[in-house]
Parts: sequence; C-alpha cells; structure tokens
Amino acid sequence: MTAKSTIQEVKHHVGQTVRIGCWLHNKRSSGKIQFLQLRDGTGFIQGVVVKSDVPEEVWDAAKQLTQESSLWVTGTVREDERSQSGFELTVQGVEIIHITQDYPITPKEHGVDFLMDHRHLWIRSPRQRAILIIRAEIIKAIQQFFDERNFHLVDPPILTPSSAEGTTELFNIKYFDEDAYLTQSGQLYMEAAAMALGKVYSFGPTFRAEKSKTRRHLIEFWMIEPEMAFVEHEESLEVQEQFVAHIVQTVLKNCAKELKVLERDTTKLENIHGAFPRITYDDAIKFLQERGYEIQWGDDFGAPHETAIAEHYNKPVFITHWPAEIKAFYMKPDPNRPELVLCADMIAPEGYGEIIGGSQRIDDPALMEERFAEHKLSMDAYQWYMDLRKYGSVPHSGFGLGLERTVAWICGLDHVRETIPFPRLLYRLYP
Ligand code: 4AD
Ligand code: MG
Repeated sequence: MTAKSTIQEVKHHVGQTVRIGCWLHNKRSSGKIQFLQLRDGTGFIQGVVVKSDVPEEVWDAAKQLTQESSLWVTGTVREDERSQSGFELTVQGVEIIHITQDYPITPKEHGVDFLMDHRHLWIRSPRQRAILIIRAEIIKAIQQFFDERNFHLVDPPILTPSSAEGTTELFNIKYFDEDAYLTQSGQLYMEAAAMALGKVYSFGPTFRAEKSKTRRHLIEFWMIEPEMAFVEHEESLEVQEQFVAHIVQTVLKNCAKELKVLERDTTKLENIHGAFPRITYDDAIKFLQERGYEIQWGDDFGAPHETAIAEHYNKPVFITHWPAEIKAFYMKPDPNRPELVLCADMIAPEGYGEIIGGSQRIDDPALMEERFAEHKLSMDAYQWYMDLRKYGSVPHSGFGLGLERTVAWICGLDHVRETIPFPRLLYRLYP
C-alpha cells in the first residue's frame, strides 16, 4: 500500500513512493515530459511525468489536467536542490478527482476588484497563502507572549448595549426590542476582567462603521486587548514594545519561506527589538510644523503626519501625552498637565500607521463621572463600568493592537484588504 503524504511531509519519504491529494497549480509540457506544479495547501511541489516511463492512461490523465483540477498523484520522492521546495516527484500515477473548466484567476494580471470578487479563490494563490500563514503565525506569537507572562485570555461580548470608542461609528442592530451595537472594542469589559483576574487579554473581532476608504481601514478587524491592574502608563509601554518585538522576531524565525514569497525586505524587520523611541504629542506637532505641515496643537494626526514621523525612525515609535480633547473619555489625565492624557499610539515604520492605541485609565470615580457628563454618555448604560471605580478602584492600563495592520506591516503589503481571509470594507460584503 502506497503511503499517503502531504507535500510538507515528503521530506520524510525520500526514495519512497507516496500518494498525495492535490490541485494542479500550473503545467508545462515538452511533448515527452509534463511538469506538473502541484499544490495541496501545505506547500508546492513539481511532479514530473515522463511519457516513456508511465502507462499511456497516466500520460493522458496528466494531459487532461487544467489549472485547479484536483487529483491524487502517486510518485517517488526525490531530493532536488534546484527546486524551490527542495524535492521533486517522479510521477507514476494520476487519478483525476475533478476537472476544472475556466478557472477565473489565470497567471495573467487581474484588477483588484476582480480579485476581491473572487477572494474565495484568490486565497489559493502562493502570495495570499503566504500572508494567511504569516497571519496565523502572528496569532500564535500573540497568544504565546501573553500566556507565558501569566495573562488570562478573556472573551468580551460582541453584542453590546453601549459604545466603547465614540458613538458615531457604531453598527446598530436590533436585540429583540432593544437597541444593540456590534462591539468597537472589548476594553471596558476587559477592565472589569482585570479587576477579577489581574492581567488579562482578549482576542476578538471588532466592528467600526467608518466611512473611511483607506488602505489602513477595515470595517471588521481583529483586535488584541490586554488590560493590567496595578500597571501605570510607562510600564504598559514596556509591555507593548516587548510584545511587538516578540511578534516580529517570531515571524522572522518561523516564516522565512513565506516572507520570501512576499519579497519582503526583512532587514527592515531585523532591528525591531529593545526599547522603541518615544516622542510627546507636543514635540510631534513641532516636528511636523518644522517640516511644513499645516497642523496646529489640538489637531488629530492623519496618515501623512504619522508617516512623516515614522520615517524618522527605523523602529515603531510611541507618540505619547495627547490632548484629552481628541482622545477617548476613559483616559487618565497627566497629573502634571491635566489637559493631556497618559496615552500612546504606536506608529509602525515604513508608513503602516498606528498599530496600537493604549492608555492608563481613569481610576477616580468623581473624575469618571465628570467625563461621562462631558461626553454626554448615558449613566444607565455605564453603571457597571462606574462600579469598577466604586469598588476597590486601582491604577490600571491597557492597549489594543490591530491585527490586520500588524500583518500588513510585517508582510510589507500595500493594503489591509489582503491581511484577512474575507475582508469587510466600505461597500464590500461579498464574498
Ligand atoms: O486606537 P483604537 O481605536 O483603540 C481602542 O479601541 C482601545 N479601546 C484599545 C485599548 O486600549 N484596549 O484601536 C486600536 C487599534 C489601532 O491602533 C489600529 O491598529 C486598530 O486597532 N484599528 C483598526 N484596524 C483596521 N481597521 C480599522 N478601521 C481600525 N481601527 C482601529
Ligand atoms: Mg487609536
């Protein structure tokens, strides 16, 4: 009986005959030899069919194979230094499972809209596969980082009665007779969890009905939100830089092949370790003004501003101490300058923009009540959140990492639409 294998596993079967379920990715033929580029999800391998060495029906079956036809291939594994995978298959048998007609994504160039309409097929391509593998590796690295540091994974709700990050970008849905919203951030619930478990993190989908059509915005994206009791602003920044360095170094170590498929210049990632530079909002404004940007103290930053600052460094940079006015209601004021808050945005290098937003949270109940009033937030919906300040309030901090922007940066992609299996974008809900 021929051993069943995957392309990834052929390295354990050199010299043996194996049977692999796969798809035809591409084919070249010289009349006497057919070169089958085969893929099975675990990898790619070349199968060589020599006319004089196989029964006629095997030769003919191979001839019938079109792009993305599925088959069982039987062949002997040979080491081959010239091939990308390091191995080749001398084919003895081809059993057709299904012949594909007119596969829409051909090796020629296709427009982005066409590819996005065929996203369910596009993910079969080597580039998209490499991205999804790196995404999965990043997720593993994230879980490993927090698990090793004794954070507990906590799942906040997705259906919520109120908003966490401002009221204008909410997806409103009916919850029987009540109004409900898809979560924009699990943070407020994670604060409750931190008071119960100390150090916690969440990993879940978040939704923002942002009418932004940029290369950094998704409508549905995944966020990692750690929250830490008894941790102040500075200490949180240290966790953040260690966290991001760990992700980058893990991908460099475990995904060299995939980064190569993406032609990523990895020298730009190799120095992502140690402390990251910090610049205050005040200094960032001066920096931008000196370079001719029309920006005033009190303005929020757009993509060009973030990029101008990031270009100055070869590591992610923290922009700290923002005006309270332009940041979320829950951020703790700087005791030395109460018009500022103890917060930071981490801006990725190479123009990938903000990947982390975080802050120390207000722990004083009276100030929290004031902020609720200023932001016209209904106390009814947030009574539970006030309770966290009423019963054993402690200093605490947390942050949120956007998974897709992190994937875009590490993979070196132009747009976040390729970082998630099925992107939800402004005006795109299909497939
Ligand atoms: O800065 P944000 O809005 O922060 C929060 O939601 C906090 N509650 C997090 C916390 O402190 N627990 O979002 C955090 C990160 C951003 O830095 C960005 O990386 C990502 O989430 N993000 C988006 N990613 C893709 N598409 C969007 N529309 C995004 N909006 C935010
Ligand atoms: Mg932010």
